[in-house]
Amino acid sequence: MRGSCYNIADLRRKARARAHPMAFDYIDGGADDEIAMRNNHWRFRRYEIAHKVLAGIGRADLSTTLLGHRLDVPFILSPSAGNRLFHKDGERAVAKAAARAGTIYSLSTLSTVSIEEIGALTSGPKWFQLYVWKDRDLVRDMILRAKAAGYTALILTVDLPVHGNRERELRNGFCIPPAITPKQIWQAICRPRWTWDYVTSPGIQYANLTHKTEKSSLFRLVSEQLNPAFSWDDAEWLLGEWNGPAVIKGVVNPADAARAVQTGFNAISISNHGGRQLDASPAPIDMLRPIRDHIGDAAELIVDGGVRRSSDIIKAMALGANAVSFARPYLYGLAAGGQEGVERALDLFVEGLHRDMILAGAASIGDLNESFIRARS
Ligand code: FNR
Ligand code: LAC
Repeated sequence: MRGSCYNIADLRRKARARAHPMAFDYIDGGADDEIAMRNNHWRFRRYEIAHKVLAGIGRADLSTTLLGHRLDVPFILSPSAGNRLFHKDGERAVAKAAARAGTIYSLSTLSTVSIEEIGALTSGPKWFQLYVWKDRDLVRDMILRAKAAGYTALILTVDLPVHGNRERELRNGFCIPPAITPKQIWQAICRPRWTWDYVTSPGIQYANLTHKTEKSSLFRLVSEQLNPAFSWDDAEWLLGEWNGPAVIKGVVNPADAARAVQTGFNAISISNHGGRQLDASPAPIDMLRPIRDHIGDAAELIVDGGVRRSSDIIKAMALGANAVSFARPYLYGLAAGGQEGVERALDLFVEGLHRDMILAGAASIGDLNESFIRARS
């Protein structure tokens, strides 16, 4: 990986060559015309770093704190579903790479390795991401399991009340466990390494929903099982049940950010789900300043979506984020080469940060502020 992948786009190319197209498209795709997904990344270009010179920095300090955790790096890993479909080691590989990088791993409700197994796998900090199931007992059960397994914060994802219109998923007949159609079989033959792993590994299921394992498209699972009518009042009930640090994920509107603070969330993940839900939603990086201006320091802010370069992280931190988060960069790494690929993705950000912080003239993450940023007109 080190000798062949010099950026996230290289990992993406390798992932495309190795993984079954159904798996690759699930990672790579967005909703409708995929404008929000592309925009999330492109809008970082709106900001330039007005670098400072002769700052006398030998080595930059990349550490930061988030909800009381001291992290070695200013980024965390966003939750993502279905990782064993991308590579046989799935969530295990990602959790180990996060611990190695000294940062937080977020486990999705829809993971393919269980809450308990990942909880016991590493000593690194872990958060648990929750979707709002219609069945309140299931919600309670998941929260209790996450607590017992040592997850220190709950992430409530609120931008998926219904499934986004993801046309690549529809075209591919995306399902977990995967459907076996003649097209899928032909594509599997064309991806022998992925297919060998697939046929020699235990079956892939949503590991936290063992009583609901019938073959289901994600679209059907979401529309049958999730509660689109979940409201702020329900969120308040949930926080009472969890009774610990909590993050709300999927907010872009400053008024919602204020409501989240009022409801009791400690951190806000400014996110549009990587452009996989409402294609008309704004880029999270553009909503950071408006949200910070609206709520001040009442909650910690995480920016999630479109981060592909270390300079993107510097821009977000300088604009007032407490941390940055991403999914596709590590998922491309996972699909390209398991844990080694995930580590390569994280190392690219770490090495890039060490370089770009010196180039920007910032000795530590805490030194970054708006004086480093110039908005391109
Ligand atoms: C996601 N995302 C996601 N979010 C969440 O809260 N729970 C989940 O289970 C998933 N699953 C998921 C699967 C895949 C394949 C992707 C690509 C994304 C959204 C994710 O946490 C994050 O918000 C976006 O992916 C961020 O955008 P980037 O970094 O991928 O550009
Ligand atoms: C996704 C869901 C599962 O984005 O969060 O695919």
